[in-house]
Amino acid sequence: MSDSLSRRDFLTSTAAGVAATGALDIAFPMRPPRPLPPQGRWAAKPVAVSSANGLRAVQKAFDLLLQGADTLDAVIEGVKIQELDPNDDSVGYGGLPNADGVVQLDASCMHGPTKRAGAVGALEGIKTPSEVAKLVLKYTNHIFLVGEGAKHFALQYGFKEEDLLTEHSREAWLHWRANLNPDDDYLDVPETEHLSARPTGTINCNAVTPQGDVSSVTTTSGLAFKIPGRVGDSPLIGAGQYTDNDVGAAGSTGRGESNIKVCGGFLTVEFMRRGMKPTDACLETLKRVVQLTEPRLLGRDGRPKFSINFYAVNKRGDFGAASLYPGRYAAHDGSEAKLRDLAYLYERPAASR
Ligand code: GLY
Repeated sequence: MSDSLSRRDFLTSTAAGVAATGALDIAFPMRPPRPLPPQGRWAAKPVAVSSANGLRAVQKAFDLLLQGADTLDAVIEGVKIQELDPNDDSVGYGGLPNADGVVQLDASCMHGPTKRAGAVGALEGIKTPSEVAKLVLKYTNHIFLVGEGAKHFALQYGFKEEDLLTEHSREAWLHWRANLNPDDDYLDVPETEHLSARPTGTINCNAVTPQGDVSSVTTTSGLAFKIPGRVGDSPLIGAGQYTDNDVGAAGSTGRGESNIKVCGGFLTVEFMRRGMKPTDACLETLKRVVQLTEPRLLGRDGRPKFSINFYAVNKRGDFGAASLYPGRYAAHDGSEAKLRDLAYLYERPAASR
């Protein structure tokens, strides 16, 4: 994919966005789209910021912001593109399964204007867990539903139960299982034919409306081939994402266990509350991650052997993102949706032992 969406893509997606802003086209909207104040009276620079797999998400979210959509509706409609894409094996439909070959999805979201939160964990059979998290936020007195209960809840609202494994994700799991133990009865698959790393992809998206309203969402299939029932950071409010409408929002992708220990979404927002710019806040959270990393996860040079990223926006529409090592993230800052360089702590990945 190119680093920025072409003008033609932009016009096409904007046209699609216009069609999608009828209230009925956003499933379970927080509120119908409404006209924006004149540009001179905007309280914030509208922006949408996401992990690198979210180039289409930030375009979609930004289009919706400019058509007066609610901030949470905008980010959910954005990340749904990835959830429904069978070629993104880190999220939703086509996400890599757990050790038993079952896809278990996690998602959470927060809505700044109403101060509400919703989440689902280990959800099976539903392609768009971000939408289910939004339903928990919108329609219940609870925040977090898991497993069978979360699925039952989704089905009650009309979601369809579907097989979330694609040909690719099933094959990746079968190869992983075959190579797990050289002494078992599954013949090993040559290294060149199977995944050597266990991906922890995810999508986080944060957005600020022209009125300065903020939201965040994070959705994932979690660590590939995880122990069944494992829930990562993504559905944990304060870890996978966090929003405070007075300050801003932040979210994370990468090794969930390392984020959970620092409550990274919350911590990043707290750093912004104390006056840090979004990028500096993300870097500060990463330093805390390193501080709390167990020796078994560090290379000989003391650097973490995993990847983890943080993304942040403040209430004015400033934004930034950072990682342990160089990489990219997606943002729409009002001019175009494009990939940008992450700030980072270390030039090079950890040296192996
Ligand atoms: N950050 C995604 C996960 O670890 O599940």
